[in-house]
Amino acid sequence: MISVPKYIENTKNYSPSLTVDEIVKKYDLNRISVLWNNENNYGFSKKINNNIKLSDFQLNRYFDPLNIQLRAKISSFYNLSIDNVIIGNGSEGLLQNVIRSFCSFDDEVLTFNGTFVMIYLWSNINNTSCKKLKLSENYRYDIKKIISNITKRTKIIYIASPNNPTGQIIEKNNFQKLMTIIPKNILVILDEAYYEYAKAITDEYPNSLDYDFENLVILRTFSKAYGLASLRIGYAISKKIIIDSLLKVKLTFETSILSQKIAMMALDDQVFIKNVTRNNSIELEKYYRFFNDNNINFFKSFGNFIMIDLGSEKKSNELYLKLLKKGVFVRLLNAFGLTNCLRITIGTSDENDYCIKIFKEILSKL
Ligand SMILES: Cc1ncc(COP(=O)(O)O)c(C=O)c1O
Repeated sequence: MISVPKYIENTKNYSPSLTVDEIVKKYDLNRISVLWNNENNYGFSKKINNNIKLSDFQLNRYFDPLNIQLRAKISSFYNLSIDNVIIGNGSEGLLQNVIRSFCSFDDEVLTFNGTFVMIYLWSNINNTSCKKLKLSENYRYDIKKIISNITKRTKIIYIASPNNPTGQIIEKNNFQKLMTIIPKNILVILDEAYYEYAKAITDEYPNSLDYDFENLVILRTFSKAYGLASLRIGYAISKKIIIDSLLKVKLTFETSILSQKIAMMALDDQVFIKNVTRNNSIELEKYYRFFNDNNINFFKSFGNFIMIDLGSEKKSNELYLKLLKKGVFVRLLNAFGLTNCLRITIGTSDENDYCIKIFKEILSKL
């Protein structure tokens, strides 16, 4: 019999819930708001629709494994050298490659409970332990706590900013403090999947590219504000020495040529990003007003989602199911370790209005 390593055997499969179509059928729904995956419900740039032709691609050919064109485009967009940029299968693919490149068995990843769950999963799959610190009051990051939990084994510190699912950021002063205090042999992964949204909301969001830290790797993606989640394309920005290691670990052809070409077109349409992020900020305020008016415990968000705390697992499960049965699909946060909470993705104006309407109806019947 083939033996499976314990750390793989003990890993739980990603178990998706019913599909949207299955739920629509099950509850005979005629209206829905899909607000559970932090996707961009406004879609993607219309410029892509107008320009794409399959015959423009040699789909039968392998392509440049170094992805020079897209890396050059991203590096010139940010005024960087191409040596500082790498492309991956979404920022999750890059997260996995960072762990594989830099962590061995006796190293430790240091992060928080209540952050992007894939950091726990990919550490585990790599047989690297992942230490999860408790978030502070109101589910905030505590930089002092990270610093005081560093040990000889700490190899990576993972911080999502904005954090999924809490929505908070690491502010400029805390980011600088963290980066200047920690030893330089610890690599900080700053996961900025929601960078475009946060930048549009506050000046307190640090522009991580303004700094020159040798032990920092920044992850960004085309999945969120650019609305290209299904294409699986993200990028990492770091020092050449880090990027060189990541280039060794990546799949030979990562990611598809179609995804790369579309990402290049997406990057050219910054008006789309401006509109999406502006609408997101407006819609967030709508939820804040509703939650304030109804005494729902919410947390100010810097992403395209918002987290609420219902006070108990029972209450969050009940609300989740009541919303689902009326066609409003939000996220339970058990996998994140935040069982009292729900996360709602900010959708289009109509979708948010429908969510708020159904939420109000549920509250009125309590
Ligand atoms: C914080 C964070 N990082 C990374 C990702 C993964 O994004 P991608 O689609 O680029 O793999 C997500 C997706 O939800 C996320 O919330």
